[in-house]
Amino acid sequence: MSDPIPEATPEMALEMGVEQEQLARGREMYLANCNRCHNRVLPETVDPEYWRGVMPHMARNAELSESQQEDVLIYLMAAHGTVHGLNLEH
Ligand code: HEC
Repeated sequence: MSDPIPEATPEMALEMGVEQEQLARGREMYLANCNRCHNRVLPETVDPEYWRGVMPHMARNAELSESQQEDVLIYLMAAHGTVHGLNLEH
């Protein structure tokens, strides 16, 4: 079984076309904020388009800035693909 909340890797960063650092920040934000009000919704359980829809609302809930929201979103999309063993090309 793969890690449900995978570490940001160079491969993920390359596939998403972002810095690994951005994915790592998104992961930290997700770990710190996204189980404060409800059980953690894991990246794998929600598809990327749905994440895109729900994140603005949840980012307001978690009081994330625009850039933090972007970091979490990109991480969740990368992690979703990683957990499902997909090619992450967007
Ligand atoms: C301040 C409380 C709060 C925080 C922090 C919060 N949420 Fe939520 N979340 C809610 C509430 C309340 C709902 C359900 C009702 C709604 O949509 O507002 C919800 C619903 C959701 C859903 C929809 C679940 C479904 O069944 O469709 C997802 C996905 C989600 N949250 C993810 C996140 C993520 C990711 C984060 C971190 C960025 C986060 N939440 C942070 C309160 C919060």
